[in-house]
Amino acid sequence: MTAIVLYCRPGFEKECGAEIQEKASWNEMYGYLELKKNQGLVFFHLHDPLHGEALMQKLPLKRLIFTRQWFVTLHEKVDLPDYNRVEAIMESLDSEWQYDDLRMETPDTNEGKELSKFCRKLAVPLRQSLRKANILTSKKDVFDARQGGAVLHALFLSGQELILGYSLAHNSSPHVMGIPRLKFPSQAPSRSTLKLDEAFLYFIPRDEWDTRLTSGMNAVDLGSAPGGRTYQLVRRGMMVTAIDNGPMAESLMETGQVKHKMMDGFKYLPRKKNVYWLVCDMIEKPQRVAKLMSEWLLNGYCKEAIFNLKLPMKGRFQQVNEDLQSIKDAFSEHQVKYELYAKHLYYDREEITVHARLI
Ligand SMILES: C[S@@+](CC[C@H](N)C(=O)[O-])C[C@H]1O[C@@H](n2cnc3c(N)ncnc32)[C@H](O)[C@@H]1O
Repeated sequence: MTAIVLYCRPGFEKECGAEIQEKASWNEMYGYLELKKNQGLVFFHLHDPLHGEALMQKLPLKRLIFTRQWFVTLHEKVDLPDYNRVEAIMESLDSEWQYDDLRMETPDTNEGKELSKFCRKLAVPLRQSLRKANILTSKKDVFDARQGGAVLHALFLSGQELILGYSLAHNSSPHVMGIPRLKFPSQAPSRSTLKLDEAFLYFIPRDEWDTRLTSGMNAVDLGSAPGGRTYQLVRRGMMVTAIDNGPMAESLMETGQVKHKMMDGFKYLPRKKNVYWLVCDMIEKPQRVAKLMSEWLLNGYCKEAIFNLKLPMKGRFQQVNEDLQSIKDAFSEHQVKYELYAKHLYYDREEITVHARLI
């Protein structure tokens, strides 16, 4: 039987599973879920084995909010012996298939962290053997009917149990387990800085940074104190209006790029329509934030917005769908074309990050 293995934040397996099952059924593909509770893993076992790759071809990973990474299995589990593990893995692989890259992965848990040390040791000899057998190739050698190549995933559940599978290079995360490892900048005033850093990396393609994420732009940061997000905007050379009743870090005010207004973010409006970025991290009801963001975009007060929607304790998947639907409805009512993506990013916890712009 074929399964799609999905990686999510531990504790969010239910949402991740509900989402893949819903989107698969829209494509008339069906299966059952196996949730690995608090391990950040979901197995979606498909009734039709051909539907594993077919679903990964049809459904953009970017459309899945709660999934960080995914792959389709090649086998049931591989039992690893205590010795000659590389040989055991090689024997499980079809030598006719080629991959552009290898990802050694584990569950995103404390045990998984321990296991990743073992994976790192195994990675070098495994890569060498895969290259020698021409299973792992450099990108330029690959001709692949599956559009631009595939990535081989080796998911270690323990030192004895392994699941092998592949993802399509053009529709998977470039990061191991879908986790970007970002460095916390020592001058940033709060850890929230990583959330906006990750959001820019995730939502805005690198080759568009020169026009969409560049110095000289004006930005507004709602719920800005102490300034983790403002720091990311300032670092990119932007002029920032920071809205919060709380104090902003002195180091940011000293840059001369930040104007701090102590007021309610729901009442502030810019005097001129020259704001490019709106970022918002106010701890507020997600419905209220969603409405405010739609209004800013529809009234032309900003060109693009990145904001958080807090997740409730229960019914998280349903609530997220309702919040996003309210934004889509507002845009559709005004007959505008838009881009709207939402993701439970690695540095998010009980919230998701949304990017919206009119096009
Ligand atoms: C999670 S903290 C923001 C962290 C900040 N974005 C950073 O990167 O350092 C939430 C902030 O939202 C602010 N806030 C909540 N409701 C607000 C409102 N109605 N108007 C302005 N700020 C608000 C709070 O004062 C608090 O500083």
